[in-house]
Amino acid sequence: MSGPIPEQLIAEIRERNDIVGVVSEYVQLRRTGKSWKGLCPFHSEKTPSFNVNQEEQFYYCFGCGAGGNVINFVMAMENLPFRDALGRLAERVGIDLTPKAVSPEERRQRSEREKLLELHQAAQEFFVRNLFGDAGTLARQYLAARGVKAETARRFGLGFALPEWRTLLTYLQKQGFGSADCLAAGLALEGRNARYYDRFRGRLMFPVCNGRGQPIAFGGRVLDASQPKYLNSPETLIFSKGNNLYRLDLARVAFRERGFAIVVEGYMDVIGLYEAGVDNVVASLGTALTETQARVLQRFTDEVVIAFDGDAAGEAATWRGLDVLRSQGLRVRVLELPGGEDPDTFVRKYGRESFEELLSEAAGLTEFKLRTIIRRGELSSVDGKVATTGRIIEVLTEIDSPVEQNEYLRWAAAMLKISEDVLAAELAAHQAKAGIESSSRHRISTRSNNREDGKGSSEASTQRIGRWQGGPGLNSFAGLSVIEATLLRLLLDDRHLIDQVRDVLSPSDFRHPVAQKAMECLLDCQDAGEFESGAAIFDYAQDASVHQLFAGLLSSRTSLPPSQACIHYVRRLQLMQLKDDLKRLEEQISRVESKPLDSNLMYQLDGLLVRYRRVREEISEGFPLEH
Ligand code: GTP
Ligand code: MN
Repeated sequence: MSGPIPEQLIAEIRERNDIVGVVSEYVQLRRTGKSWKGLCPFHSEKTPSFNVNQEEQFYYCFGCGAGGNVINFVMAMENLPFRDALGRLAERVGIDLTPKAVSPEERRQRSEREKLLELHQAAQEFFVRNLFGDAGTLARQYLAARGVKAETARRFGLGFALPEWRTLLTYLQKQGFGSADCLAAGLALEGRNARYYDRFRGRLMFPVCNGRGQPIAFGGRVLDASQPKYLNSPETLIFSKGNNLYRLDLARVAFRERGFAIVVEGYMDVIGLYEAGVDNVVASLGTALTETQARVLQRFTDEVVIAFDGDAAGEAATWRGLDVLRSQGLRVRVLELPGGEDPDTFVRKYGRESFEELLSEAAGLTEFKLRTIIRRGELSSVDGKVATTGRIIEVLTEIDSPVEQNEYLRWAAAMLKISEDVLAAELAAHQAKAGIESSSRHRISTRSNNREDGKGSSEASTQRIGRWQGGPGLNSFAGLSVIEATLLRLLLDDRHLIDQVRDVLSPSDFRHPVAQKAMECLLDCQDAGEFESGAAIFDYAQDASVHQLFAGLLSSRTSLPPSQACIHYVRRLQLMQLKDDLKRLEEQISRVESKPLDSNLMYQLDGLLVRYRRVREEISEGFPLEH
């Protein structure tokens, strides 16, 4: 349904989804008097403080303060925007939210998709029954020998495909599915004379599930050393390899609890780590990570630790995957395993503690890349050194923060045993070629400009928000500036302004972390068109501190600048950040004043000053710097 969903329909969906029933799908609830209690899924706890009030249809956690109605719960639990959560709840009670005018083709695809899901479900049940039945003895022994408990096998829905030609096909046909459907699902293959047979035979079966835990594909492993070791479902209407992460459905709650995701390569790595007690793990299934996978991860976490075996972590395809993660805004770290081990074998050999140790030591992506390049570089020959330096320069170029770039430059120069100046010059030349601008001519004049009039406005901009009139609750946001608060308040009051500034303003322009999140919420809310009721904005914040910030801003009684001034505040905000960057650089420069000035540092400074001047000019064009 495009366009706004009628309030009435929203209310109907909410009323028909009893909150106790919905929450029970995620949390074990026990009745205590009028309410239901369980362990809070939003923070880790040993004694239940998570309450569901059935009469009033809301939940509240006395431990962490999480709360809301059934839609908020699904949103928070599944990390879904309002509409998707609503859609899911609608589907749960059989309400059709899909547009009336579907083309026959769409209708056909939808029913085709449903049939494939049913088919996979049936196959899944068949495989599981095999594994735990008489024919599954060997497969069960294999699992036991690899340290996988029966309970774990159940949890991951492991199964067994019998070593015969068409037991699955026969079973599915008895269930009323046609052989063409089995072929389309990738569960059957076509032999000579149009005879169909099972794709998976004599294999341990790993169901690959969608976000709702429905099987949509399978991986099958042989029980011995024969080849191919794994056989996977082909791409189908419901399964695309690059869109899926193995066991995301089980891992995402743990992502939230631990604050990051671990990405491994194989089915058995996920299971082995789970067996050892590490459950915030998904597998990429042996391919380079795609943008879709990165976006999916980014919905549930902001940090990813890659735990590939040593050889794979060094491959170009793997690096591309890691860059894709980073470009989706994820922090990326790389856990390096000792040679010959994968996460599964490592954790079984050395235990969870050792794995946690490696986890805590996992280096950031840049450091990992540089170290790998240097480790592999032929530093003894001149040619080798030149080639290695070239690779280093490329990695340095990817770094956004000048300070960080400089740190790594020094480190790399030391490792390469070349002078920092030389490396800096190479980097500058490379960046110039890549079209990153620099202009030393402007430097001195802008620098003095900055000193002259930068101070006053910088003080005003960093003024503590507590001094902003009113705004109960805002005092707890240490470091939130008046500029940030004013801008957010303007955007909250007149959300048409969001469209006006969205091309020039991004959440990362805000300095305060909660303000950044608040801006993200505003953009999301705007995107979803959930404008009309002011309270809808709360549905877009998963973070209680964001709720608190919005509430504080909305209840403050400050007299606001006119909405035309909005763009002015955007620029002030950006200027504030540039000033911080400049200050840091200048401090750095003054620290090395005795030595000849680092040319790279000067180069960085130039770039910043150019940007700084540009923003300042924009400000004075429209609005003279006041006070
Ligand atoms: P074990 O060897 O049982 O420990 O499995 P693993 O999960 O550790 O597999 P491995 O690290 O060798 O490979 C990682 C992933 O790549 C697997 O989980 C599969 O998804 C995929 N893969 C591995 N071998 C094959 C193969 O022979 N064919 C296909 N299609 N995929 C494979
Ligand atoms: Mn393995």
